[in-house]
Amino acid sequence: MPMHEYESMLSRPLNIKIPEFSHNQRIRHLIFSAQFDPHTLNKLFHTADKIRSLAKSKEGHIFLKSLLPHKKALLYFTQPSTRTFLSFDAACQTLGMGVQSVQDRSLSSESKGETPIDSVRMFSSYYDMVIMRSVTPNLAECCAYMMNELGSESRRNTPIINAGAGADEHPTQALLDIYTIERAMSFYHPKNSSHWNLYDELRQNHPNLTPGLNGKTIGFCGDVRRGRTVRSLLTLLAKYKDVKVYFITANHEILRLSNDLRARLQNLFVEVREFESFEQTMEDGKPVINHLDCLYMTRIQKEHNSASLDEDLSSIDFSRYKLNKQRVTMMRDYAAILHPFPRDDNFGEIPIEVDTDPRAHYFRQARNGMWARAALISHIFDVDGEIADFYERYTAESKDYNEGVL
Ligand code: CP
Repeated sequence: MPMHEYESMLSRPLNIKIPEFSHNQRIRHLIFSAQFDPHTLNKLFHTADKIRSLAKSKEGHIFLKSLLPHKKALLYFTQPSTRTFLSFDAACQTLGMGVQSVQDRSLSSESKGETPIDSVRMFSSYYDMVIMRSVTPNLAECCAYMMNELGSESRRNTPIINAGAGADEHPTQALLDIYTIERAMSFYHPKNSSHWNLYDELRQNHPNLTPGLNGKTIGFCGDVRRGRTVRSLLTLLAKYKDVKVYFITANHEILRLSNDLRARLQNLFVEVREFESFEQTMEDGKPVINHLDCLYMTRIQKEHNSASLDEDLSSIDFSRYKLNKQRVTMMRDYAAILHPFPRDDNFGEIPIEVDTDPRAHYFRQARNGMWARAALISHIFDVDGEIADFYERYTAESKDYNEGVL
């Protein structure tokens, strides 16, 4: 089946499409980050926290493995990936699922002329979920329409998860990013006693600081225009109250915020400001980097440059868009530095000297991806309620035991 069968459906507005990717008030196919509403996000965060906690113990691990042993996932990744591929693989295994992958089209029957749409239909004959990354922007969306069509004819169909589509969307990256920011901005780290935590300490220097995402200022630096992770995360940030987004990029059309995305954010009442360096001062005389609660660094995607674009960009002073220890010192003490990774070691947007700073959250951000993706899969297969019930019983039993022995 060719993709153009579904092309007429692609240009419809999101509010028409999104309900088509849900079933029984649950996400069925995950194609766009806009499918995550604040209520669903909150539920996913809580499930991810519970999975993370349960996976630490043998009993919790065995329980999680017992949830989906009758389900199998196919990872169809025809674009390179380390984190998304491996964290989905680990997430499926955490929930007891079987996992297989197709990564090299030259070794699949696509080398004999099979279309990717036919490939995905075949995968759904053998597997219960298809998790896919493709250079083709709308392939996952078209596959979801195909599955819905099969479902409407009472034929076998499986959930589709978009694990990165062309330059457009990376919704599960947005999920793990927002989960990481939410955790960082909860400021909950017990300090010496359960009554005195990091938040109490921070409020001595930041009396107006509140936990959570509402009212926070998020900076984006680097290749803002070409980053699909940036676009997907902005869609989620716009769902929170009074969020400000500041872009720190070279003033070049290929790197800075696009006009359509700026307009979209402003229509959603998000305060948008643009800067050409971390040191550019704001009205209070302080540099913009000092105003950020969170800084989302990105890699300059040089692989998409033509020779003439390389030439054009060569006059830009890119040292302005790299972190170093001195710049990190200018940040707020509680601020969180994120990066979707991979970082570019040759370019050096985050040198390793920053890794030991407590504000560096990017490695735990990648690990959060495994818990967030496990939470999403448990939501799609409707076992998140079982996780919540087991967690309640398990933590109550542990508490009783501890009270008994203390
Ligand atoms: N962030 C991310 O998508 O990483 P990978 O390309 O390694 O999956």
